[in-house]
Amino acid sequence: MSTVYVDPAFQSDRMMNEIYQGAIVVREHSAATEQFAAHARAQIEAAFDGMDPRRAQHQLEVESFVDRFAPLKSSFIHDPRSRDGMRAILSELGFDADDTYIDVPRMRVSTSSGYLTSGVAYAHHPHRDTWYSAPMAQVNWWLPIYDYATSAGMAFHPQYWSRAVRNGSDAFDYYNWNAKGRKEARLHVRSDTRVQPHAEEPLDLDPELRIVVRPGGIVAFSAAQLHSTCPNTSGESRWSVDFRTVSLDHVIALRGASNQDSRPSGTSLRDFVRMRDGGAMPEEVARAYDDRLSVEGEFVYSGAEAQR
Ligand SMILES: [Fe+2]
Repeated sequence: MSTVYVDPAFQSDRMMNEIYQGAIVVREHSAATEQFAAHARAQIEAAFDGMDPRRAQHQLEVESFVDRFAPLKSSFIHDPRSRDGMRAILSELGFDADDTYIDVPRMRVSTSSGYLTSGVAYAHHPHRDTWYSAPMAQVNWWLPIYDYATSAGMAFHPQYWSRAVRNGSDAFDYYNWNAKGRKEARLHVRSDTRVQPHAEEPLDLDPELRIVVRPGGIVAFSAAQLHSTCPNTSGESRWSVDFRTVSLDHVIALRGASNQDSRPSGTSLRDFVRMRDGGAMPEEVARAYDDRLSVEGEFVYSGAEAQR
């Protein structure tokens, strides 16, 4: 059983609790989300001067598409309006600015018909973010920037919410990934050979749940939810932004979704900064999630790799 709440009356606390139980929360429209999507649209349209960004893949060589998209992805992360926009979305929902920590906003493009499915536009196989070292208290937020067809969206596989999947997360090391895997994203244009955690058993993915929401809407779900990028056959690129939040209180109290099968090394907690002022995640809190004393690699995802 899985529940999708559409425009629920409840806000932050109950919302997190529902999400930790496997619910997906959809807001059909909010002023702050619309403003954030408009900000993203303006950045994309400037980068693809004059072209319709949904159709640009039909006009550009794939390398030229990547040359426009990679710097856009990076500048969007560092744009103060992006940070303010995420805060506004969360404030509308009653999230506490001192307890809530946010990571960076990631702009994504899912191109149609296999034009670009690797590197900066990696088409995600079915995965839980917790296989990639996300904390069990993490909430993922996903919003579209343009209208998109159902085949261009994202799929959820809620039948695995409380069912373990044999997977490769025990070989995944977050700090090593920050140091190496991410930085190579731009190099993976035609194929993607980076080692990532996959399911290691056949998955039963039907039926899958696809949510289609218009720009100005947003979808929130647990990092432990099994999800994937749909094979986009719509003829148009789908543009979206996602970001993640955690409640500091919940992280400290080890609250969140229950862990079925995630066993990565390291934690992405240091990527999160305080909603109010960008203050760092307390090191002792992150350290409590580490499974070893010394670390090789990089603790934090800086978003700088797309510029390299
Ligand atoms: Fe994901």
